[in-house]
Amino acid sequence: MKATAIAPSNLAFIKYWGKKKGHEEERLPVNGSISMNLSNLITTTTVEFSDDYGEDVILYNGEEPKQRSLQRVLKHLDRIRLLKKFQQRAQIVSKNNFPESTGLSSSASGFAALSLAASKAANLDLSEKDLSILARQGSGSACRSIPDGFVEWLNANTSDGSYAKSIFPHDYWNIVDIVVITGKEQKDTPTSEGMKRAYSSPFFKKRLQHIEARIIECKRYIKEKNFKFFGELIEKEALEMHTITLTSQPPIVYWHPGTLCVMRAVHLWRQEGLESYFTINTGHNIHVIVQEKDKEVLAKELSNLEEVNEVIINYPAQGAQLSEQHLF
Ligand code: DP6
Repeated sequence: MKATAIAPSNLAFIKYWGKKKGHEEERLPVNGSISMNLSNLITTTTVEFSDDYGEDVILYNGEEPKQRSLQRVLKHLDRIRLLKKFQQRAQIVSKNNFPESTGLSSSASGFAALSLAASKAANLDLSEKDLSILARQGSGSACRSIPDGFVEWLNANTSDGSYAKSIFPHDYWNIVDIVVITGKEQKDTPTSEGMKRAYSSPFFKKRLQHIEARIIECKRYIKEKNFKFFGELIEKEALEMHTITLTSQPPIVYWHPGTLCVMRAVHLWRQEGLESYFTINTGHNIHVIVQEKDKEVLAKELSNLEEVNEVIINYPAQGAQLSEQHLF
């Protein structure tokens, strides 16, 4: 059977940074996290299992994936074969509408789309929770691209408890995430490697002491639609995560000159009355959060910066969905 899924990337407001010791394979994070699905950063994936395929064949953006990504996808297919208790090989065609490995969480949309498409193609009817757990094993943040809108990934010590659920639907709050592309070069330290180093930062323990309170605060500001407090919180959170990367051993600097330029511009515009806040993942590209009423002005200001190549406007979105538009 053949199935196609479309899944959004997601933006973490409270970030997943570090895996629980002894649970790295299962991808159990050291803390819970909060995110929003993004309407315009999308992966589409078609999967077909058949006895006719002698081996798994994967085409990602028109090419065979690099060895590291290929191994991760093959391992994920094995998880699905184990659940279904069959041996059939698969053909997979997948495409993204945005650059990968630049801080825009392509593994989140990628493993969410793969989990939904492959489980359907295998005729497994997984609940949203079980799909989220499956996606998490491919890439942690992918578990948050399964449910609708604003999402919480629960902190748990077991695989069964470590999944994401919607806390507010996508149409609850019309904030906008302007994704700012400052370059397409790929990051040199993969996220999984970066997370391993988190424990070596002298600030990591401190982070874990207040992260739960921060999650509660974040959920409250979303509920109240308190843009100012929400914005200040997510910017503080992003800078804290990067404090950990900068002070890990060996240190990791994910920012490029263009990233810093956007960070400084956001602060300047804010002083002048254009309210927006930034957050950054593991890459040089940067997300700027703004209210609907200010999105045009801000997108224009950002596009005028010399360091900015492109901006992509995103609204809160639904999670992974099935589609009839097969890629082969
Ligand atoms: C900085 O989900 O890409 O974007 O589980 O190793 O695949 P793996 O990591 P991944 O990490 C995302 C890290 C982050 C923060 C976040 O999305 O919460």
